Amino acid sequence: MANTAELKLSDQTVQLPIVEGSEGEKAVDISTLRQKTGYITLDPAYVNTGACNSAITFIDGEKGILRYRGIPIEVLAERSNFLETSYLLMYGKLPNAVELEKFTSRIRRHTMVHEDIKRFYDGFSRDAHPMAILASVVCSLSAFYQNEKGTPEEVGELTRIRLLAKLPTIAAYAYKKSVGQPFIYPDNNRNYCENFLAMMFSLPAEKYEADPVLVEVLNLLLILHADHEQNCSTSTVRMVQSSGATTWASITAGICALSGPLHGGANQEVIEMLEQIQNEGGKVQKYVEMAKSKESKFKLMGFGHRVYKNFDPRAKIIKIACDKVLKRMNVSDPLLDIAKELEEAALKDSYFIEKKLYPNVDFYSGIIYRAMGIPVNTFTVMFALGRLPGWLAHAKELSEDKSTKISRPRQIYVGPTLAEYIPLNERK
Ligand code: SDX
Repeated sequence: MANTAELKLSDQTVQLPIVEGSEGEKAVDISTLRQKTGYITLDPAYVNTGACNSAITFIDGEKGILRYRGIPIEVLAERSNFLETSYLLMYGKLPNAVELEKFTSRIRRHTMVHEDIKRFYDGFSRDAHPMAILASVVCSLSAFYQNEKGTPEEVGELTRIRLLAKLPTIAAYAYKKSVGQPFIYPDNNRNYCENFLAMMFSLPAEKYEADPVLVEVLNLLLILHADHEQNCSTSTVRMVQSSGATTWASITAGICALSGPLHGGANQEVIEMLEQIQNEGGKVQKYVEMAKSKESKFKLMGFGHRVYKNFDPRAKIIKIACDKVLKRMNVSDPLLDIAKELEEAALKDSYFIEKKLYPNVDFYSGIIYRAMGIPVNTFTVMFALGRLPGWLAHAKELSEDKSTKISRPRQIYVGPTLAEYIPLNERK
């Protein structure tokens, strides 16, 4: 295969390099296009545009493959835990026993937040959306760590540790605020997932033992959400980090991007959609038809994906986990039956088949969060807890890449050409 592409324009022909990734993905490198031709490319929503080289996560959307640093998600789901997977994503290798212990104990020693931060929660209403609280409090952390001593690498590393350590605390405090219960301090005798569950559900009035089933399934869900290459929120983190802004700022931006219903916010929308179907007597076919109609703005939440044109491998794993968790907790959830019926109806429908719309990571995850006692408005917060190491890994990769420049896309201007300023008294 030629390693250049020939571009014939009306007035000139240029050769552009072809680049190939380690998994055979090919791209036309257009980084010299404007300088050579005066032309730019136009690709709204970057559907066909690669923003960077990255060695963190590989997705094959046609084959439903997802690998973190080359390790298949199915293997990590089966054998890893969230902090080990976080280490893998950020440092590019599985930690040995000493590295894992050092990483884990460093995180343990940063789980508390400054006592003044607790007062921020007094200002939020009890029904404030926890994603708004998460973004606000994470952004405010920059004000508590603004004059850190050390090299940029040391400060960057400590910031990553602090964020991984404190996000569960900040999230749990938001939940406690919403239910009017006292904030529960982190307990360094508990492992990461157990600690989060204790901060969420324990009470000063009684002893709390985390259900090992919940600890296990929380590790699984966080691993499955940990990274997904250049998705909307991760690209946002990279964009903000590229200006030299702090990682507090870029992660805040990632949280905000994730909150959208087309992205991480979908897991909340899925449950609300399933509850609506349940309230209307469980007629799934009506919703399948609604999703197909151009007139209705309705989309089948939890279905479809920009990259996966086959099953989202994460959805497959979560679907199996749903049955396992509900059985081990001896609970049943009618919404799971509705979800399965909806999936079956959609996957048999030509609209979904032709458009290659399959359940994505958000379709079943909410069923498990419900079983864990997590409120629906906190589902996207759970997504953020999982995605944090991915965001941090990409921010680190970008900061360490000597070729990084500030991200600044071009545009095609379609507004008015040269116009006059009309004095106020002459305007119609
Ligand atoms: C996540 O990018 C990532 O990797 C994201 C993520 C990650 O881990 O970071 O995987 C997490 O965000 C998962 C996606 C969660 N969002 C949803 O479940 C919301 C519902 N899904 C859709 O909004 C949509 O499928 C997207 C946003 C996920 C993808 O949108 P695209 O790639 O822009 O595709 P599109 O909207 O152009 O859809 C293509 C066609 C359109 O029809 P036509 O205009 O061609 O006629 O498929 C239709 C869409 O109308 N379509 C749907 C649909 N999703 C797409 N129709 C009905 N129901 C749906 N869910």
